[in-house]
Amino acid sequence: MTVCEFRPGLEGIPAAQSSISHVDGQKGILEYRGIRIEELAEKSTFLETAYLLIWGELPTKEELEAFEHEVRFHRRIKYRIRDMMKCFPESGHPMDALQASAAALGLFYSLRDLHNPAYIRDSVVRLIATIPTMVAAFQLMRKGNDPVKPRDDLDYSANFLYMLNEKEPDPLAAKIFDICLILHVEHTMNASTFSARVTASTLTDPYAVVASAVGTLGGPLHGGANEEVIQMLEEIGSVENVRPYVDNCLERKAKIMGFGHRVYKVKDPRATILQTLAEQLFEKFGYDKYYEIALEMERVVEEKLGSKGIYPNVDFYSGLVYRKMGIPTDLFTPVFAIARVAGWLAHWKEQLAENRIFRPTQIYDGRHEAPYIPIEQR
Ligand code: SDX
Repeated sequence: MTVCEFRPGLEGIPAAQSSISHVDGQKGILEYRGIRIEELAEKSTFLETAYLLIWGELPTKEELEAFEHEVRFHRRIKYRIRDMMKCFPESGHPMDALQASAAALGLFYSLRDLHNPAYIRDSVVRLIATIPTMVAAFQLMRKGNDPVKPRDDLDYSANFLYMLNEKEPDPLAAKIFDICLILHVEHTMNASTFSARVTASTLTDPYAVVASAVGTLGGPLHGGANEEVIQMLEEIGSVENVRPYVDNCLERKAKIMGFGHRVYKVKDPRATILQTLAEQLFEKFGYDKYYEIALEMERVVEEKLGSKGIYPNVDFYSGLVYRKMGIPTDLFTPVFAIARVAGWLAHWKEQLAENRIFRPTQIYDGRHEAPYIPIEQR
């Protein structure tokens, strides 16, 4: 075995062999199982895309109907999970509530039968079906309300928006939300997927796999950036303030949220689609003044950092879309998780198929043979 140099952040080091998705960061191309996301965003649904990612092929009509049916009838959460969530502090972050709830599901489904395809399917269905219910339930309960029961007559995305806002969503908003889920469902070896695969490689249960990935997604360098983008736009407040804000960040060497990517050196193709979706919502439901600020930010950041390959990433425009749907800012990352759970599960399944526990090495640069100094002499 050759000894490799240390690469901080494991940049450029393959952590798995995978056929789930592919990014061409120079050309700005993202494919799920070989299909371009632009095509899936236009023609598919979130559940169909989830099926494609997890089982490798687009489903037949019968396969899709069976999957949709199973997900629809597993949306309810156990009253004990609801009761547990009621005890969460309302000031807690919804990502922490989601991580705790996803882990708690494992208490109820503790049988671990990882080589049984029926077990894999049940776990996939249960997690995809219940995560939106848990996100919506926490939102209502922290306001002091009872959670709303899922509606079997609504499709996946419409039902989530219904559970969240306690009213049936506008069809355009529901359709656009479904496209957002398609855009967020999978993205090669990102930090949370890596986390999911490391956890999966120990042969633990899928609830622990998802809980660890949710914890990883929440950070501001990863999925948590979508929330910070809106906070940043609010702080900037006007188009005139954009340039001084960017200059100040660059002077302090602070990261500008929603920009830059380890793989993309051009604008993230998901950001391009999300921008179009935001415009469709503005046309129907009214303009958002933060969009002007966002456009100016994109211009200024491109002018200053474009030569370094720093452009908007997936988190830059998604918040503007969610805001227009009435989704609170601190739910943006849980919404990302609702989508990404299917990607994590695709990687869980792939990891199990050719598993070897992750156990990398380190370059030790500490002391050797150090003396133990008695406490009174320290
Ligand atoms: C997601 O990996 C995935 O696929 C993730 C994701 C997915 O779908 O799973 O796409 C989702 O996590 C999107 C990223 C969300 N995060 C942010 O928007 C936070 C802001 N972005 C940056 O912190 C950063 O760009 C990262 C975290 C996204 C990538 O970090 P890297 O690859 O480790 O890059 P780096 O921090 O080492 O930066 C390289 C250079 C540096 O300049 P130099 O020191 O070489 O001169 O680029 C500069 C950085 O200062 N840079 C930025 C910047 N991003 C990079 N400068 C200002 N603002 C930024 N946002």
